[in-house]
Amino acid sequence: MKLYTTKAKLYDKMIQAAGKNYKGESALIAGILHKSLKEKNPLILDLGCGTGTHAAELVKQGFNVICGDLNKGMLAIARKKIKTECLRIDMKQFSLKQKVKAIICLYNTIMYNQNTKELLSTFSSCYNNMEQGGILILQLTNPALFKKSKDASFSWRVGSNEVIVHSTFTRPSKIMHHFSFIDLEKKKEESDWHEMRIFSTAELKGALKKCGFKSIKLMKEKATLYITCRKRIRCS
Ligand SMILES: C[S@@+](CC[C@H](N)C(=O)[O-])C[C@H]1O[C@@H](n2cnc3c(N)ncnc32)[C@H](O)[C@@H]1O
Repeated sequence: MKLYTTKAKLYDKMIQAAGKNYKGESALIAGILHKSLKEKNPLILDLGCGTGTHAAELVKQGFNVICGDLNKGMLAIARKKIKTECLRIDMKQFSLKQKVKAIICLYNTIMYNQNTKELLSTFSSCYNNMEQGGILILQLTNPALFKKSKDASFSWRVGSNEVIVHSTFTRPSKIMHHFSFIDLEKKKEESDWHEMRIFSTAELKGALKKCGFKSIKLMKEKATLYITCRKRIRCS
């Protein structure tokens, strides 16, 4: 995944050009966390943190954040942006030194699970690394919108690079992004591809329930779906 490894430096510029509103999203997430946890400075994990932009915003708002991502290129940028623990972890199987109050998994990171087995593994890892009563927040493109989406292409000019992405659907449940990174100065082209799994809302809810999460709530914000749920509190 060159976009997250050797080409990670292009990530923020591409996403900025696409107009993603990290500040607004972080404020919304902070609101959910404050309301659900009723704690001033809870410890949270940004799972699939990427370059740490949400994490940096949440730290500004008083949260204690641990960043976790599979890719070293993304973590290297996150470490420059934010003075917090940045861990190389795989969402499907991780074990933190201490349990967290909340886990956030944003911007379609959950779609890097390729099948239900991987999704269940990810949700179980989240569950096991959270304190009782903890909150999990997922943010993804509303899967219902993919039913009508057509194959599409986008391009960005990022410094001396032209980045082109072709997105193609293998219905009902896969989307493939093919990237071309064209260095216009060096006249060099590299390609990259990301296969992402489209889980329906019912599949996501079912997998969360199976892993023990309760109080599953959905919130739609334009094309984005937020799913929140809670690790149950056991009575002793
Ligand atoms: C679309 S980016 C989102 C990054 C960040 N959350 C944001 O909002 O900008 C997806 C991220 O998921 C990470 N990722 C993909 N598979 C992963 C895995 N198995 N475990 C942890 N992170 C993973 C990638 O390295 C990448 O940083």
